Amino acid sequence: MTTEIIHRDATKLTVRTFIDLCCGTGALGLRLATGTEVKPLTPYMGWKKNLAQPILDAVGVKPLATRLIFNDLGPWGAVWQVLGRKERRAGVMSRLRSFCQEEPRPLYEKLKAEPVPLNPVEFAARFLTLQRWAYGAKPVQHKGGRWLLPGYCKASADGVAKRHNYGKVKPQLPSLTKILEGYTALPVIQASREDARTFSPAVEEGSLVYLDPNYRGRTGYTDALSRQDVVMLALRWAKRGCTVVVSEGEPLEELKGWETADLTARRGQVHKNFARDREEWITFWRSSHPFGVNLGALGRL
Ligand SMILES: C[S@@+](CC[C@H](N)C(=O)[O-])C[C@H]1O[C@@H](n2cnc3c(N)ncnc32)[C@H](O)[C@@H]1O
Repeated sequence: MTTEIIHRDATKLTVRTFIDLCCGTGALGLRLATGTEVKPLTPYMGWKKNLAQPILDAVGVKPLATRLIFNDLGPWGAVWQVLGRKERRAGVMSRLRSFCQEEPRPLYEKLKAEPVPLNPVEFAARFLTLQRWAYGAKPVQHKGGRWLLPGYCKASADGVAKRHNYGKVKPQLPSLTKILEGYTALPVIQASREDARTFSPAVEEGSLVYLDPNYRGRTGYTDALSRQDVVMLALRWAKRGCTVVVSEGEPLEELKGWETADLTARRGQVHKNFARDREEWITFWRSSHPFGVNLGALGRL
C-alpha cells in the first residue's frame, strides 16, 4: 500500500516526546522541535536534513516536540550527551573557536595523529571538526583510541574561490560554530549511546519513534542493524502505543498493514559520492490507528 504525500491537517498528530533510535545529526528531531531554526551541524552520510519536513508532512505530525530523546551507538551518541547540556556546549563552542584560528590542514594532521580524547567536550569538538572535514561526508569513526577517517575534504576545510561554474565556498569550520550558537533554542535533550536493540526509555503513548538505520545493501556503520532487527524494533515500539517511522531505500513489506510513502523526489540535491538512483521511503504506523498488525507472522518480540 503506497501513500502519496498527503495533507492530514484535520488529523495531525501532536507529539510531545520524540525518540530517535539512530539519531546521527538528529535532523528530524531538530526540525520537529524548532522548525527551521536549528539546523544539523554537519553533513553526514544518510542525514535527513532535506527529508525532515517531507517525513513530518507524510506522517502528519504537528511541529513542536518538547522532549527529545536522541540515541546513537556511534560517536553521535557521545556528542549529543555533550550538546544536550548548556555548559558543555559552551565548552565545545570555545574549542571550535580556537580551532578556527588555526590553519586547517596542519590542524587536521594533528587531530588525526593524536589519540581520541577521553574528555567528552574535547571529544565532541574534535569529532565535529573531523566530521565537517570528512571526505564525501562519510562517517568518522574511532577504534582502539584512534580516529578512523574517510579522508580530508579540502574544499570544506579551506574553502573554494569563486569559479565560473561554481560559486565561492567559505571554510566550513566557522559556519559549524555559528550553527552551534543557535542550539540554545533547543528543548531538553536526553541523549544516550546505546544499542537501539536494547535501548528502552520510558515514554508516554503517542510519542514519535524514528528509526533511520543504515540502508540495506549500503556500506554502513559499525553495529549495523539487520532488517530483522529493524522490523522487530518497529513492532515493539508500535506495540507500546507510539507512532513509528522507519526510513529505508525501499518500503518495508514485512510491516504488514503499515503505510508507506515514497520520498525519493523530495530528497533534494544528492552528493556526488552517494548513489543518485537510491530511493527514499518511509514505512510508518500512526499511533491513532487501532493496532491490528499480525505480530505472529514475525515471531516473538
Ligand atoms: C543513517 S544514520 C542516521 C542519520 C540521521 N537520521 C541524521 O539525520 O543524521 C544511521 C545511524 O545509526 C547508528 N547506528 C548503527 N547501528 C546502531 C545500533 N545498533 N544502535 C544505535 N545506533 C546505531 C550509526 O552510528 C549512524 O549514526
